[in-house]
Amino acid sequence: MSEDYIFLKACRGEPVDRTPIWIMRQAGRYMKEYRDIRAKMSFLELCATPEKAAEVTLQPIDALGVDAAILFSDILVPLVPMGIELSFKEGMGPVLEPAVKTLADVEALRVIEPEEDVPYVLETIRILRRELEGRVPLIGFSGAPYTLASYMVEGGSSKNFIKLKTMMYKENAAYDALMTKLAKTVIKYLNAQIAAGAQAVQVFDTWAGILSPHDYTTFVAPYTKMVLDGLNRETVPVILYANNSATLLALMKEAKPDVMGVDWRINLDDAIEALGGDIPVQGNLDPTALFLPREEIPARAEEILRMGKKAPGHIFNLGHGVLPPTDVDNVKALVDAVHNFTG
Ligand code: CP3
Repeated sequence: MSEDYIFLKACRGEPVDRTPIWIMRQAGRYMKEYRDIRAKMSFLELCATPEKAAEVTLQPIDALGVDAAILFSDILVPLVPMGIELSFKEGMGPVLEPAVKTLADVEALRVIEPEEDVPYVLETIRILRRELEGRVPLIGFSGAPYTLASYMVEGGSSKNFIKLKTMMYKENAAYDALMTKLAKTVIKYLNAQIAAGAQAVQVFDTWAGILSPHDYTTFVAPYTKMVLDGLNRETVPVILYANNSATLLALMKEAKPDVMGVDWRINLDDAIEALGGDIPVQGNLDPTALFLPREEIPARAEEILRMGKKAPGHIFNLGHGVLPPTDVDNVKALVDAVHNFTG
């Protein structure tokens, strides 16, 4: 029965015979099968073609044997029907035009209607549920308002996030309107994914870790809480993840996620303690640990697996996405090490 998937049990803090593992960005350029498909179509075309997006989602399930699938898409996809032009330029990462600068710019943005605006995402989920039945559960996802706002206001990736933070500090009306509109969009988007069949959802607040705890509480926490409070999550666990979040974990917990994602800059047992020891955790191997000699990877995994025992549930993952130059055989060695751990 689908409720028996070990990934979902661990999310609910129920006992499992072994620790489940999946890997952020598990479908991607480090896999030859993925590069072969990308040679024939652009990334955004791939996201918008349900049969192909589903095929790519399944690649790491077949090749690695991970314990959950994650919808193949991108956190930036729902920003396009809000009124932003999105492109991926070689070596530049994402480019979003026009960048959002003023309250008038925010007012021109739409809250999306997922069934009409991103039907291909929901169709991908429906295909995947049929193909995955009896194998592994499917995770849906969205960016959190702050991380989405960062791309919209900066116009792409950023180092110091000066535009975003300037809006946040000085243009409160514009900032609040943008974050509120994004929160409404994220709620609709994730509830549509849940209705289409997503069995868990992860909220990526990747860039929240650029903030001090004080600013996180003031400028991010209320909107993250708005999102989590708005989700139809009775039967669907919600994972909240931020990168660089060691000092924010207790504050993030106030939004009441079912599982907390943890990056590698804190020992997992310290993260569990900071969280009060009563919430399942996901993480937290440094993605560059996969560049160690292959035979050293199991010991790194075991250290984290032992620490994970202190939480009511542990889902093994990297602390951030797998990096494109990673050797796929090292990723497989990690998955095997987690599966074989009996300690
Ligand atoms: O985890 C998964 O396998 C599911 C799919 C997924 C992707 N991106 C696929 C992708 C998920 C969940 C994301 C999330 C995402 N996208 C985040 C949050 C998590 C994180 O990793 O920090 C962010 C910040 C983005 C924005 C984004 N999309 C960036 C910075 C890039 C890289 C740009 C580049 O040039 O490398 C992307 C593109 C992207 N998203 C790729 C994939 C597989 C690479 C596309 C390609 O070139 O084939």
